Amino acid sequence: MTVKIAPSILSADFAQLGPEVKAIDDAGCDYIHIDVMDGHFVPNLTFGPPVIQCIRPWTKKVFDVHLMIDPAQPYLEEYAKAGADIITVHAEADKHLDRSLQVIKDLGKKAGVSLNPHTPINVIEHVLDRLDLILIMSVNPGFGGQGFIPEALNKIRAVKEMIGARPIELEVDGGVNAGTAKAVVEAGANVLVAGSAVFKGDDYAATIKAIKEVYEK
Ligand code: DX5
Ligand code: ZN
Repeated sequence: MTVKIAPSILSADFAQLGPEVKAIDDAGCDYIHIDVMDGHFVPNLTFGPPVIQCIRPWTKKVFDVHLMIDPAQPYLEEYAKAGADIITVHAEADKHLDRSLQVIKDLGKKAGVSLNPHTPINVIEHVLDRLDLILIMSVNPGFGGQGFIPEALNKIRAVKEMIGARPIELEVDGGVNAGTAKAVVEAGANVLVAGSAVFKGDDYAATIKAIKEVYEK
């Protein structure tokens, strides 16, 4: 699998969200990572479905929607209608993970599940065949700009092994930059979320290229 870069718009200029999305598209990103936070599952608040609907016309790239909300199930249809392509729910937030994944699939979207740093990987063992993507958190969710938790590397390796030959993408989120990307890719990830690393610089294309270079060479 080729490695994809998914800039997180959590670190974008919210007053310019449409143009920011277009700018990372033009800069060569693969997915657009959208962090949805509810102030309950995580201590921060971000985007509701109307915001996603407003930025949808600014790009044709995949909207990778990371739901850090509890419960997620009542909102899945709204996020699907707003323009999400991949919808990822947290295993810790969902009492009925299997049902939520089935709802996402029934809505015609790709289904992902995310695990917080402390969450053991066996919680997804029995839903693997429903999954299009697994998102390993390498920070505690809620904020951009935190440091990468090194223990995540062992977890990525273990999940990669668990996935086996299944066509499931393995995404890593938190503290990914040109300094950490190589280890993350070598551990088995194929989708890298990068929020502050991309948006803190002025030249988004140069940053995306710099991240890709560390594992491509
Ligand atoms: C954290 C979010 C991340 C965040 C990553 O809760 O899920 O997507 O934006 O930001 P960086 O890349 O700055 O760690
Ligand atoms: Zn995220």
